[in-house]
Amino acid sequence: MPLNMNAIGSPIGPMKRKYTWKDVVLYALGVGAGFSELEYCYEKSLKIIPSFAIAMIFDFLSQATVSAGANLAGVLHGEQELIFHNPIPPDGTLITNGRISNYYDKGKDKGALVMIESETRHDSGIKLFTSVATVFSRLDGGFGGEDRKTPPVAFPDRAPDVVVEATPSPDQPLIYRLSGDILHLHVDPEFAALSGFDKPIMHGLCTHGFACRALIASLVPGRPEQVRRLACRFSKALYPGIPIQTQIWKTATGKALWRTIDAATGQVVIDNGEFEYADIPKDEIRFDNRVAIITGAGSGLGRVYARELARRGARVVVNDLGGARDGAGSGSSSPADQVVAEIRAAGGQAVASYESVATAAGGEKIVATALEAFGRVDILINNAGILRDKSLIKMEPENWQAVLNVHLSGAYHVTRPAFRAMRDNGYGRIIMTTSAAGLYGNFGQTNYAAAKMGLVGFMNALKLEGARYGITVNTVAPLAASRLTEDVMTPERFERSKPEFVAPIVLYLSSDRCTESGNIYNAGLGFFNRAAIVTGPGKMLAANGRVPTPEDILANIEAISELDGSRHYPDINALIEDLFMVTQEGPPTAT
Ligand code: NAI
Repeated sequence: MPLNMNAIGSPIGPMKRKYTWKDVVLYALGVGAGFSELEYCYEKSLKIIPSFAIAMIFDFLSQATVSAGANLAGVLHGEQELIFHNPIPPDGTLITNGRISNYYDKGKDKGALVMIESETRHDSGIKLFTSVATVFSRLDGGFGGEDRKTPPVAFPDRAPDVVVEATPSPDQPLIYRLSGDILHLHVDPEFAALSGFDKPIMHGLCTHGFACRALIASLVPGRPEQVRRLACRFSKALYPGIPIQTQIWKTATGKALWRTIDAATGQVVIDNGEFEYADIPKDEIRFDNRVAIITGAGSGLGRVYARELARRGARVVVNDLGGARDGAGSGSSSPADQVVAEIRAAGGQAVASYESVATAAGGEKIVATALEAFGRVDILINNAGILRDKSLIKMEPENWQAVLNVHLSGAYHVTRPAFRAMRDNGYGRIIMTTSAAGLYGNFGQTNYAAAKMGLVGFMNALKLEGARYGITVNTVAPLAASRLTEDVMTPERFERSKPEFVAPIVLYLSSDRCTESGNIYNAGLGFFNRAAIVTGPGKMLAANGRVPTPEDILANIEAISELDGSRHYPDINALIEDLFMVTQEGPPTAT
């Protein structure tokens, strides 16, 4: 049976799992804790090893694997990423909702990857953790899907900063399995032999728990609540009773890379480990497993969006052509490179893209950069922009067209391939950048105003197409100090208009907390309000089916122009329905 393609994106859950301090302690014992870490094993002032999260969603992952239609004889846990939003309380009920986000095809004899995403909340309502699990399904490859290439984690070229040694008990799987993973492979010698092993093997997730303890003891001793992210790939089976080493490299503030090796053979059993730690601010909006593309991010507003998103965990594509303010010049890689360097120096992840948004091929390449570097696209901020201001008579076609190419067509060129990738994942956040010049008018900017209002129309249609795939589309009209505004603001106003005062709403609209779609927001100086196209109450002039005359319009122009009591329509159909309702007079007859 091939993988079930219809399962992609369908909600799985809510799955509930009640737990008490005894489950917490049982897990801790299962991953090797004991008297030397009594805080994990004694209900008095109990602390929770964060990797406990994975034991608590084991049933959810099994259910998702079954929904995928994966051949259960060949499934292995491939990769696991856990992002912690709040510390796990010592008891309660965990509620998990998720879905299969995608399948990747490694080839007929090489297997397939089933990507499973979930979010788990405590019954008190607090969001606790996000899981991204990759199930490697050895027998399901060759279905004709795309492959996924994840770049290997680049371990520093030096000896590990810390090595933590441990020896799981020969009986370790017998304890660990009581936390939920009761697969035969870890207990039944005959089954293990049939699977090609000398004896039952360790659960990869049990070794993962050993590694999590080692990371906490080395980097945040006694403070497991500071673990923010734990990610890794399971690379080799391990027999119980064999000594292991968890090797740890500190790479930046709050970040480390790690792997666990079989100390007897030197083979890596868990690879590509990443670990992040810091105080967890309550309910912080995070982007940890998200990939964002920001066009025109080499300077001004885009640079601030990119830095802020990366600071909150997003992996970012910093696109910038590096041209002049009017778009002239062949472009330079340095603005994008500079922002990437800033993000990396602060411990974030980013790659540069120097393509122009002004061509369809450029748009495709920008999105391909995100997919190649990070495997997905969740957020697109269409921000690249140029100016060529002239009054209409002096506005030659090339100046008209150049501005439309970057702002309006540019958004189309990048949004189309990004939307495709988002649709495949059933999730996306798209931001358009309009301008008060378009919304309200500005002398000498017919090209710019037309392009910027074009983006509003683009959003209005795309919000409807995106709704069925979990994709929201919103528009921001910023006001900020940048090279585009340096000659239109006084120095005092320029100083007060830092792009940082615009970024909060762009980050909100880029987040999974945003449920709005199709809205326009003005943002500047820390002030935010909504702008909308509204429709006045109007006046019916076709009484008794008579076709009104231009003179009727003249006589009623005030009432027709009235905006008091106006409405905002979510789409064209709502407007048409309203029109037929308020004009229930039957079809007009010609006079
Ligand atoms: P900026 O000039 O600092 O940033 C725009 C960036 O876009 C530049 O780094 C530029 O190299 C890049 N870019 C230009 N053409 C490109 C292309 N074809 N492909 C890739 N990148 C390209 O200006 P600012 O102010 O940060 O503007 C950002 C956006 O905000 C623009 O869309 C602008 O129209 C809009 N906006 C800004 C306002 C403000 O008050 N700063 C007001 C209203 C709208």
